[in-house]
Amino acid sequence: MAENATPSKIAATRAYGAEVVLHGTIWDEANEKAKQLVAEKGYTYIHPFDDEQLIVGQGTVGLEIYQDWPDVELAIVPIGGGGLISGVTTALKACNPKIKVVGVESSGAPAMTRSVREGGLLTLDTVDCIIDGLRVKRVGDKTYDIVRRHVDELVTLPDEQIFEAVVWIMAHLKVVPEGAAAAPVAALLQGLIKAAPRTKVVCVLSGGNVNLEQLRGLKWN
Ligand SMILES: Cc1ncc(COP(=O)(O)O)c(C=O)c1O
Repeated sequence: MAENATPSKIAATRAYGAEVVLHGTIWDEANEKAKQLVAEKGYTYIHPFDDEQLIVGQGTVGLEIYQDWPDVELAIVPIGGGGLISGVTTALKACNPKIKVVGVESSGAPAMTRSVREGGLLTLDTVDCIIDGLRVKRVGDKTYDIVRRHVDELVTLPDEQIFEAVVWIMAHLKVVPEGAAAAPVAALLQGLIKAAPRTKVVCVLSGGNVNLEQLRGLKWN
């Protein structure tokens, strides 16, 4: 993981029994280190988003959405490297091809949006995004191809607006989402998603690794 990964995510991963190696300031740099360790130590490499089996696993999120709510018309999903949305859109559209899927990136790390818009997979020179999970310079070959063909729309918005949505979700839903997970709700709150009134919308709240230690010592009344 990158050295600036959320402390609670590092702790949770260690608690599952993993050894966590921290390297670089962005996932792409940590990934280079992972490949080096694979070469040196013979480890098995598992890509965190550009892997068919992983995408199939994330497709179960789409299946669960459809099973819970077969009337769903629009699903909004955060994008980092694009694995999650690849699985969700493939599963949902297999259940009902009319379901619309929208992806949300940080405008400081719009690797998928720019690749799709410019018609080819590209690597961002710089990234201005601090949200773990969205901070990626280059999406995957497989995920780019799936998103290009099976995602209806991509929107981007700044980290600050996504963090506003973290608080909105806590206040209104009594749920603790991390930044990446709040991005779909942020896009809705900012009016970036065009949908007719009464459209049946699902936002994927994809994770809750928030550094709650920051809250210790606050007065709560
Ligand atoms: C909570 C959360 N949501 C969404 C994503 C984005 O997933 P993907 O990289 O498959 O697009 C991540 C990625 O790490 C994440 O941690």
